[in-house]
Amino acid sequence: MLDEARALDAADPLALARQRFRLPDGVIYLDGNSLGALPVMTPGALSRTAEREWGNDLITSWNKHGWIDAPARIAAKLAPLVGAKPNELLVADSTSVCLFKLLAAALAARPGRATILTERRNFPTDLYVAQGLADLLPGTQINTVDRADLGTAIVDDTAVLYLTHTDYCSGERHDMRALNEVAHENGALTIWDLSHSAGAFAVELNGSGCDLAVGCGYKYLNGGPGAPAFLFVAEHLQDDLRSPITGWMGHAEPFAFAGDYRPAPGISRFLTGTPSILALAALEAGVGTFDGILMSDIEAKSAAMTQLFIDEIEARCPEVTLVSPRDPAQRGSQVSFSHPDGYAVMQALIARGVIGDFRAPNIIRFGFAPLYNRFEDAWQAADALAEILSTREWDQPRFHARQKVT
Ligand SMILES: Cc1ncc(COP(=O)(O)O)c(C=O)c1O
Repeated sequence: MLDEARALDAADPLALARQRFRLPDGVIYLDGNSLGALPVMTPGALSRTAEREWGNDLITSWNKHGWIDAPARIAAKLAPLVGAKPNELLVADSTSVCLFKLLAAALAARPGRATILTERRNFPTDLYVAQGLADLLPGTQINTVDRADLGTAIVDDTAVLYLTHTDYCSGERHDMRALNEVAHENGALTIWDLSHSAGAFAVELNGSGCDLAVGCGYKYLNGGPGAPAFLFVAEHLQDDLRSPITGWMGHAEPFAFAGDYRPAPGISRFLTGTPSILALAALEAGVGTFDGILMSDIEAKSAAMTQLFIDEIEARCPEVTLVSPRDPAQRGSQVSFSHPDGYAVMQALIARGVIGDFRAPNIIRFGFAPLYNRFEDAWQAADALAEILSTREWDQPRFHARQKVT
């Protein structure tokens, strides 16, 4: 009921965090799992970096305004959100490039083992990166199994278990701790893609024994379209792993301009080239939206909001089928339903100002960002969906025409 949703908003310890974002009037934004909303501080941070720092101080800004330290500085702010130590994270590149770097490093650290173990429904970029790397490294095998078979598929030849923590389509979470344990008992390393986990709920990278991880900066971290990604290397592994892209920023002494590559100590060896300072300025403002926020509050609100949404939809929309787990502990901060005409249904919702997205072949996805979404948003979105489905409002030619980005 709408009144109940409003009462939950009134009691929400995170309610004030919504003011940290610039959300357009008349829009219910449920796509922060694809592109986080614009933080209020971001336009100012971008213009300060461009006009004052770049404009006035030019190249002296690398030292004067700490540009050179930005990848490590932002990583240190991000570390508590994902249960890592500040020196175990680095902000760099895109998620796909970070996956490549860590997967290549992990394979090299397990000589004599040839197999990358992953799951069939892993995000396509994760699969494609593994396929490209296997082409470069003759003898490397990719074992792609169903989710349920992962535990038993980890064997003597497994070099690395390579998974996305929260499934992009269903929102289902893996039990990271249990899979890390099985992998380690069998001598394999683990790589987790946290793109749909970081900032959505409390992640415990060290607490659950992860070796390596990557994640997106532009989803729940609110870093802006195409924001730099992050990578995690557990402290005890850092000296044994090497980046396959040995650029000068990962050198022990980049400004010695030596002729031979020598990796920097610690996580910095995973840097490659000159970072995009404008992109980092936006990411820093995005990560800043978590200042003073308890991840336990984020997790509790995510579970309650997604539950309210599921309950309302299941009570009122017999036309759709829940694809996400019912148990909130197994669910990320998103809810997915299937509908045979999911694309058109989502377009009709967007036309009414309720923004989610569609994933082929038939999934409509709704992401709930606990910092700025309200319980009322969940109720209003369910109400709009119920109306669109019962009146078949979605069944118009304009809603069936596919655009490039779905
Ligand atoms: C699980 C996962 N990994 C990676 C990516 C994207 O990678 P990139 O930032 O390199 O485009 C996405 C994008 O949606 C994703 O869902």
